[in-house]
Amino acid sequence: MRIIGLSCFIVFLFGCTAAPSTQTESEYAVAMPDEFAAQVALDVMAEGGNAIDAAIAAQFTLAVTYPEAGNIGGGGFMTIYMDNATDFLDYREMAPATASRDMYLDDNGDVHPTDSLFGAKASGIPGTVAGMWQAHQKYAKLPWARLVQPALTLAEEGFRVPEKLAGRVSRYIKRLEQRGRESNFSDYFGNAATPGALFKQPELAATLTRIRDHGLAGFYSGETADHIVEFMQANGGLISHEDLSNYVAKWRTPITFNWRGYEIITSPPPSSGGIAVAQWLGMVDAVVSNNGLPPYNSGHYLHLVSEAGKRVFADRAEYLGDPDFFTVPQTQLVDPDYIAKRAQAINLNAISPTGDVQPGLYESEDTTHFSIVDKWGNAVANTTTINLSFGAGVVAEGAGFLLNDEMDDFSAKPGVPNFFGAVGGEANAIEPYKRMLSSMTPTIVLDDNKIKLVTGSPGGTTIISSVTLSILNTLLFDLSAEEAVNSPRFHHQLLPKDTIRMHPGFTVATKQMLTGMGYTLDERRFGDLHVILQQDGKLSAASEASGRGKAVVEKAQ
Ligand code: DON
Repeated sequence: MRIIGLSCFIVFLFGCTAAPSTQTESEYAVAMPDEFAAQVALDVMAEGGNAIDAAIAAQFTLAVTYPEAGNIGGGGFMTIYMDNATDFLDYREMAPATASRDMYLDDNGDVHPTDSLFGAKASGIPGTVAGMWQAHQKYAKLPWARLVQPALTLAEEGFRVPEKLAGRVSRYIKRLEQRGRESNFSDYFGNAATPGALFKQPELAATLTRIRDHGLAGFYSGETADHIVEFMQANGGLISHEDLSNYVAKWRTPITFNWRGYEIITSPPPSSGGIAVAQWLGMVDAVVSNNGLPPYNSGHYLHLVSEAGKRVFADRAEYLGDPDFFTVPQTQLVDPDYIAKRAQAINLNAISPTGDVQPGLYESEDTTHFSIVDKWGNAVANTTTINLSFGAGVVAEGAGFLLNDEMDDFSAKPGVPNFFGAVGGEANAIEPYKRMLSSMTPTIVLDDNKIKLVTGSPGGTTIISSVTLSILNTLLFDLSAEEAVNSPRFHHQLLPKDTIRMHPGFTVATKQMLTGMGYTLDERRFGDLHVILQQDGKLSAASEASGRGKAVVEKAQ
């Protein structure tokens, strides 16, 4: 079922820009989580910068204007299509050298409820500045200082606080108070709790000045590093000078696979997302080719996709972790025969018992995402995070940026779910300098070597569903970019048992059918998709209306 006219409605209400009538290669586009990053990225491309230049400038801007997830204190993944070649940059955080498998367990062997989520001990070694530096060295056209400067100016001169940011900041401060958590958060962000206030961040501006002038050394050594380490030592954190100087962002080979004639380029381990999307799309396809395609967002469709998702998450928990520490059976997990065999066990009329869905290889709630296409047809899909909204909830004093709480993405104890309800074992156990398993899935789809779709979202484990559904919505059900990001989505991750998390907006008939089958429906929004879609040589871009994103397509001069 198509949602006729929704895109025009969304354009009218939120200013998402519909496609102009020009060829892809004379257009460029952004789909960004906020208006500041959108403008900075557009300015960079108007000045002759490519998609990587725009991505670097946007990443630093979001560290200033989108503090709940934009960062220099966290990490992320960048999927790249540049000069007709694919690439992938892993700037995920690493566990500090003194981290250990049981570091979040108490004397009884139980997982401490907040140590991996809040405060200095929750932080992995930040990777963002190293990542942006690597991206710049390999691909950029414009000077580093030009790309850091817009963020620095916004931090120094301030920006007017958008209403949605003010709401998030004030709710967060209230929550810290209610839970009696000691934090310097409101000292730094109290002024951002008022919509329209001019919000300046002088310490962050000074840190960005050092990064602008000294590159990597402006963050991983010298004054910024001193501030981070002093804060760690005073607050029970682990990150040392040695850890900071040992951090490396890594170039990896992206996962690429063919799906319905498209080439999909997506994130390899230490993300679980690419393997998961390959399995998920593959299983849905295997069932659809034998049984036909159920109507869009019908109960039958949600059941089919959910059954596939259960199998995806069973494999995720068992086989996925940092490939530098654990042998991930990647080739087997994305083997079409294996995926088709997994799909055979899906019963279209009944929920398969949760306990029967085991890993299959026996035989042998803040992140943010942006999508960019430049006028040469290069693309960047970049997802970046400090894990939960506002990360560890504490600022590295003197350096002025929020620290991540990414350590919670490790499996603190086998079988005990993390914040996102994900379980894991050996593959994702904590080890010094290991990267914690992620769900971030920045993804680019090619059609005949040209950009078809650039997509990604925040949302912890639900990221994988948001990305998979954005591909199915646009490329299987033919929705426009605006329709695809704003139509209701759903998510099933095996545990909790028989539970489908869903956006509001599904029909009564769909919900009744699912509850009749025995599903529990958990109606809560998730994710924030930012998508660029090419149709007939024209770009369209859309950011989900529930967020504060901005998507724009510009005609190149
Ligand atoms: O890397 C991951 O999978 C998580 N740290 C992402 C966290 C996230 O998306 C939170 N956003 N809503």
